[in-house]
Amino acid sequence: MAIVSSGSASAGAAAPREPRRRLVDPAPQDVDEQGRSADRGAAEGPLQREDSLRPRRLADYIGQSELKQVLGIAVEATRAREEALDHVLLYGPPGLGKTTMALVLAEELGVRCRITSAPALERPRDIVGLLVNLEPRELLFIDEIHRLNRVAEEILYPAMEDFRLDLTVGKGTTARTRSLPIAPFTLVGATTRAGSLSSPLRDRFGLIQRLEFYGLDDLQAIVQRAAGLLQIELDAAAALEVARRCRGTPRIANRLLRRVRDVAAVGGHGRVGADLVHEALSLHRVDGRGLDASDRRLLHLLQHGYGGGPVGLDTLAAGLGEDPATLEAVVEPFLLQQGLLQRTPRGRVITEAGLAHLQAHPEPSAA
Ligand code: ADE
Repeated sequence: MAIVSSGSASAGAAAPREPRRRLVDPAPQDVDEQGRSADRGAAEGPLQREDSLRPRRLADYIGQSELKQVLGIAVEATRAREEALDHVLLYGPPGLGKTTMALVLAEELGVRCRITSAPALERPRDIVGLLVNLEPRELLFIDEIHRLNRVAEEILYPAMEDFRLDLTVGKGTTARTRSLPIAPFTLVGATTRAGSLSSPLRDRFGLIQRLEFYGLDDLQAIVQRAAGLLQIELDAAAALEVARRCRGTPRIANRLLRRVRDVAAVGGHGRVGADLVHEALSLHRVDGRGLDASDRRLLHLLQHGYGGGPVGLDTLAAGLGEDPATLEAVVEPFLLQQGLLQRTPRGRVITEAGLAHLQAHPEPSAA
């Protein structure tokens, strides 16, 4: 795991005002004239639902031990120096806790975290508006950072390096570049596609960390913690059963747990055991290994449509009616990690284990 020093990315900051404990600002200042906000923290929906189960401190964050160790040291050293934390790039498959880690870092540093995503930063003023409103040492979290457009990227370079905005004022022959200082801040970028980041942008991150799929023990602990917060009586075997089926991903574990809770509530079950988890998740077509209907459809098409491969990503995506980038970044990583699929220079190939899994689950849509 690489720790890359970006040299000039940290600088002395004025002492921050009273630390703000609120993690996501519910009253964004970055609203344009159409009322669109670049601050996803204000949005209703999955982020808020997930919030109730998120760990708030590093000590409560289960798993990702190397990531926690590296960031824990950086936070402690930064606090002692009273500086802004070096810029952090988090990459890896979705649902592994990149946003959660940004919020944990803000909490540990006693500052606010502004949350946005690259597609929301379409126009230069979207990103300028966010940057000029940052307070010293605050975190700016940009999700899907590989999708930033070039103009936004170029605004970010001096902002990340020297805490400065280079703005062009005037037009044509009277155009001038003005430099505007901004508060020392920390950019936390998140991406599922680290390879798609331009190297000038990647090089400006001081800490570059990959999030790994979680192991079974950690997932079981995450499920037990979430069950406690949701007031579900779940025995250890049931927690393990959810852990086995969540594709190494806490976000999926928590989603499955909510489905189990529904089935338990409707069936009038007080205590949830492994049998009930099996019953509830079979209903949602999640098999014993955590593959869902779309995973099995991919394996099925690969085997029965293309003789097991090799077949190119675009062909496979077209056959499934999926976007190739989504297939590559969201669906494939778990199948690769499980050894059910292989990427070869000539295309995707089903493995022996993939074939065995298909034989055990012959219908592409059956659980
Ligand atoms: N909920 C989601 N991810 C978690 C994690 N890594 N630790 C504890 N609870 C979580």
